[in-house]
Amino acid sequence: MKMPADVIREEILKSGVISFARFMELALYCPETGYYEANRDIVGQRGDFITSVSTGSLFGELLAFQFEEWLQELPVGGCRLPIVEAGAHGGQLAGDILTWLQANRPKLFEKIEHIIVEPSRNRQRWQEETLKNFSEKVAWVSQLSELKDRQFTGGVIFSNELLDAFPVHRYGWDAAKKSWFEWGVALEAGNFCWVRMTHDKSSLPQLCPPELEAVLPDGYMVETSPAAEIWWREAAGILSHGKLLTIDYGHSAEERFSPARLRGTLRAYRRHQVSDELLANPGEQDLTAHVNFFAIQKAGEAAGLKTEQFSTQPQFLTRILQKAVTEKMFAGLNAKQVRQFQTLTHLEHLGRAFRVLVQSR
Ligand SMILES: C[S@@+](CC[C@H](N)C(=O)[O-])C[C@H]1O[C@@H](n2cnc3c(N)ncnc32)[C@H](O)[C@@H]1O
Repeated sequence: MKMPADVIREEILKSGVISFARFMELALYCPETGYYEANRDIVGQRGDFITSVSTGSLFGELLAFQFEEWLQELPVGGCRLPIVEAGAHGGQLAGDILTWLQANRPKLFEKIEHIIVEPSRNRQRWQEETLKNFSEKVAWVSQLSELKDRQFTGGVIFSNELLDAFPVHRYGWDAAKKSWFEWGVALEAGNFCWVRMTHDKSSLPQLCPPELEAVLPDGYMVETSPAAEIWWREAAGILSHGKLLTIDYGHSAEERFSPARLRGTLRAYRRHQVSDELLANPGEQDLTAHVNFFAIQKAGEAAGLKTEQFSTQPQFLTRILQKAVTEKMFAGLNAKQVRQFQTLTHLEHLGRAFRVLVQSR
């Protein structure tokens, strides 16, 4: 079994330089040995980073409450109500959602089919184990296009921290030349190093409005993730009715360029330490960047979806909680749930950077 560092080295030796997006793809998804392929317990206190899911079951319970309302709005309340999840990793969120629906909405639960989009056989095995009590409710497809084979036309498609795990290209601004260049990865004395790639100017994407370029400092960095946009556009295309939801840390168009972020948003996580040593130990640390929500929103709208909301995680979850309390589904929160809600919404925790995009058809 080849380790990510060896596979990356071989590719660089063949071509001299690879894009950072290719480096990230191999570091995270190299078959069997990539970071997300080989490591099950990366989320949570004992892992490398926390997510809203690892704060406790309340996050999934609030989503389940919201999904019920969305599923009831579907044009035909057929015998099957599909919820599609992508980026399920260990399957915890699916477990929280299904547990709540089973206990609180038994009639709806009967009709629910939870489909997980999971390209990796390893991760599917972890999910099967976590969800063994729901084996009749859960089905897997390895890619979005297979949803058509399952006669999926509409329902809810959702993800939490999926889009930030897609590979990103990193670009830098050359103030003297007034042009962007892409940062690539090469080898120097056997070690991975950053190099400027040479691209035809016309092949570079439009990275920022021209009026902003006039004031950008030399070296300013920004990332793009065409893979995330392609994924979203494909999901949008499959949805003939229902909702497409994603929750992630990211920026709106206005937030994307800030003097405080000269080096972009790419970072590595290992044992809850954040680092900008992005080329160190490929396969042993998470690599991630903020989601460009403006680009994602545009991709969905180009596929014909309507943007229903783009909000912060605190706004989104507070609205659901208020509705749930009014409808007496949550009599109130116990002390443990209050702590979870605070972690999910407080600006010092997960409340500041997390955004929610809901589009519909
Ligand atoms: C940061 S983890 C999110 C885990 C979980 N949703 C949570 O919030 O705790 C991102 C997950 O997305 C998975 N992933 C990446 N690309 C994917 C794709 N195209 N389809 C489905 N999952 C994908 C990764 O392998 C990883 O398991």
